[in-house]
Parts: sequence; structure tokens; C-alpha cells
Amino acid sequence: MNIKITNKDLKASNFQCAIIGIYEDHSLSSSAKQLDKATSGHVKDILQRDIFSAKAGECLFLASLPKLKNESAIIVGCGKKNELTAKVFRQIITAVSKALKQYKISNAHCYLTELGVKDCDSHWQVRQLVGIIEHHRYEINAQRKATSKKKSSNTTLTLYSDDTKTSKQAKQAIREAQAIANGENLSRDLGNLPSNICTPSYMAKIAKQVAKKYPNVTCQVLSESEMRKLGMNVLLAVSQGAKEEAKLVVIKYNGASKSKAPYVLAGKGVTFDTGGISLKSNAGMQEMKYDMCGAATALGSIQAAAELELPLNVYAVLACSENMPGDNAVKPTDVITSMSGQTVEILNTDAEGRLVVSDALTYCERFKPELVIDLGTYTGACMVALGSYVSGLMTNDEELATELTNAGNYTWDRVWRLPLWEEYDKELDSEFADMKNIAGRWGGAIIAGCFLSRFAKNFRWAHLDMAGPSANSKGGATGRPVPLLTQFLINQVR
Ligand code: BES
Ligand code: MN
Ligand code: ZN
Repeated sequence: MNIKITNKDLKASNFQCAIIGIYEDHSLSSSAKQLDKATSGHVKDILQRDIFSAKAGECLFLASLPKLKNESAIIVGCGKKNELTAKVFRQIITAVSKALKQYKISNAHCYLTELGVKDCDSHWQVRQLVGIIEHHRYEINAQRKATSKKKSSNTTLTLYSDDTKTSKQAKQAIREAQAIANGENLSRDLGNLPSNICTPSYMAKIAKQVAKKYPNVTCQVLSESEMRKLGMNVLLAVSQGAKEEAKLVVIKYNGASKSKAPYVLAGKGVTFDTGGISLKSNAGMQEMKYDMCGAATALGSIQAAAELELPLNVYAVLACSENMPGDNAVKPTDVITSMSGQTVEILNTDAEGRLVVSDALTYCERFKPELVIDLGTYTGACMVALGSYVSGLMTNDEELATELTNAGNYTWDRVWRLPLWEEYDKELDSEFADMKNIAGRWGGAIIAGCFLSRFAKNFRWAHLDMAGPSANSKGGATGRPVPLLTQFLINQVR
């Protein structure tokens, strides 16, 4: 989407479709007044006819306007003026996004920058506005006959900002929102592809393409034999039942001097999770094509950081594998020696995310990282605990907990903390090895966090279980938590 900023108000603009907000008390903003005047009182007319109550998010599309031949307008309800919170603003923008799509509007002038949002600055407002509209514009890259492929039209959105200081702020906000949206879309595309296309090798190929696009991004792909030499046996145990070769994708964005310690993301990239020998039941197995979304969002976040030219070093290690049953597959009770030297008794081959990422975390030690954040669709238990609106956050670093929580709240890509207490960790002790990969029935999300904490002793570390927000049956992959991670990185610069 093409986004412009204008300081011309509505009456001075040549607009195709104006987006205007109206409060429940029917008081008119200055652009609403101008639209009303230009249409000989059409706006007030509508408000008097009681067909539009201006409840937050209520939308009215006016395909034609008196006196204005070629123009149209979207009037959106903004609720009560003193109740316009961040949540309500997002509701309003979501409604507008849907209307823009429904009525195929390709050129809109948006005056919602005029609205004052409680406790939110104009930077946040523009970020949300652009972010939400971009999010809804995304279309799934469906595998259809070439001739029927839809080409999405080029859309221009013009934002109104009357003074130069805020318009300079708005420019930066637009830049950030678009970089994040592009990162989300990259990861959504990967997530939405079927697992016969989006294999570990395909993930590696796309990561290499990202590296090609940016001068200071490099990508290295480790094969199974290279991983074997490094002793990444736990990761390889997950892939040994699969014909597809596992890949460890190491992608580095160097936006700062090489001496600066990097921020490292370690992503779970299970391109399909059948459960392995601990085979899943049929119900819901199709959701497991999204089991590489941790890796995909790590890649999307790297791309966003590169696009924003953040003065940081940000690396991502993507642990990519298929989890398949087979005559060569790892079996429950097998004991495997990890790259860290610790041994793991695999009691459930379906708890494979923690396995692939454990060796990836050990691999991260070589970077002497500033910190490491691992992320993946680790447990159904996290969804049972928190639902699908939020990622589970686990860390023993209080400062990191606060920073991730703040970045999540700012972007509305939120996290909720779960504890990593010793009582839970003890449950992983095994009679036959240093640890087992599952524990009892309860607190499964925390158990996965505790398992990975055993491989993250040598750096500051956080664990994100994004099983909930990563995808949904309606729109497929969401691109979350790209906004959270990118914001976290942006905040490291300030
Ligand atoms: N990929 C799944 C977790 C998952 C489930 C993500 C549903 C998204 C939606 C993970 O690999 C898994 O199978 N976890 C098991 C762990 C258990 C065996 C300890 C689970 O959650 O049941
Ligand atoms: Mn699994
Ligand atoms: Zn999985």
C-alpha cells in the first residue's frame, strides 16, 4: 500500500473516498464539518435520520454524495469522545479496514488522525492505523490455477496531518508499520503454504532470498551432516523419521559494528508435526502445518529490522524439521545426547518443538549474545491456559520480562507471563538420563519452558509460546509475534 501524508484539509483536497469519524453525541470534527458543507448538509442529514448511531466501529459507506460527483465517503462511529481508548481506536480502524476491502476502495483520504486517543500519542495512532489496514489487506497465497489468480490492486492511503512536527513523526510511524507488516506478510506466506511446499529446505531458500535483498543480511544453512558434526543429535532425532532433510538456518542482520553483541531469535520451524511415533489423532492435525511459525516470525522480524536499518545486530537461528513417524523414527524412551552434552530421554515424540530448539539454543552460545529469545508453537497447554489472544512468556530475567511485556502492550501483540519455578523444573528429572522431554499432565506450557531453560543457562533468555496467536482457522497465519519482536528491537535503540 502506498501511503502519503497531506497537510491539506478535506475541503482543499482532491479525494476519492474520505474516511471520517463521528462521535456518538453527533458532534462533528472539523473534517466532518467540511464534508457536511461540501455536500449541502448531507452528513447532518444522515445523523438526523437515525440510521447511524455512531457506536464505535459502526460503518456507513456513502457511495455517492450530493454535489460531489466522483467522491465517496466512509463514515465511522467513534463512540463516546471521552471513552476513545486504545482498544476502541483499534476497533474503529478494524471496521474501516474491512469496509475498504469490501467496497474495493483503492484511493482513500483518512481523517481519523484527528481523533484523540486516551493515553496514546500520534505515533502510536499512525502505527495502529497503518498496521491494521495492512494486516487486513493481506491475501492468502492460495495454490490455484494460474489463470484465476487474483492480482490485488494498488491502493493509496493519504493521511491527514496538519502540522509539520506531527507529520515528521507520522512518516517514521508509517515506515515502522510497513516494515512490520512486510515482516508479518513474509511469515504469513510461509505459514499458509502447505507442508509439501514449505519444507525445511524451502524455509532455507526463502531465508536466503531475504539475505539477498538486504546488503547487511547474510544467511548460512547447515545440513544434517554438518549438524551431526556439531553434535546436534536432539534436533536430528526429531527429523530422523522424515524423508525431508532438517536444516538449521542461521540468518544474520548486522546493523551495528561486529563487536556489538547480537540479539538472537531461536525459532521452532517444524514444517509439519504429525507427532511422530507418538502420533497425533486426526482431529486438528491440519493445524500442524503452522508449526513452523516460530521460525517464520523470527525471519519476518529480522527482515523488519533490516528494512528499518536498526543500528543493532540481530540474528535468527531457525530449527527446521519435519516430525514424522517411520521405521527410522525416534521412539519413546530413546535417550539422545544433545549438543550441550546433556542427555534427553524422549518419552513423547510429539513434544518435539523443545527438542529442535534445545540444540539451536546451544548453538546460539557461539554468538556471545546480548540475549536470546526462543519462540514457537510449543504447546496446546499454553492455549488451554491463555487462549488464542496472547503468547505465553517465560523468563528468569525480570528486566526482559518487563521489556517484552511493554513491547507487546504497545503493539497489542501481547504476552502474559508464566512462572519457571523449581518445582516444575524438577518434574523433568529422569531415571534414565539428565532429563525427560515431558512431565505429568499439568502445567504443560511451563514444563516446555523449563525444559528449554536447561539449555539457556549461559545468556539472558526468554521463551515465547505462541501456539495461541500464531494462526487461526479463519485467516490462517497471523504473523504474530513479528510486531512484538520488532517493537522490542526498536525499543533497544531508543
Ligand atoms: N505443535 C504442538 C503444539 C500445538 C498444539 C500448537 C495445538 C498449536 C496448536 C506441539 O508440538 C505438541 O504437540 N505439543 C504437545 C506436547 C505434549 C506432548 C507434552 C501438546 O501440546 O499436546
Ligand atoms: Mn508436537
Ligand atoms: Zn509441534
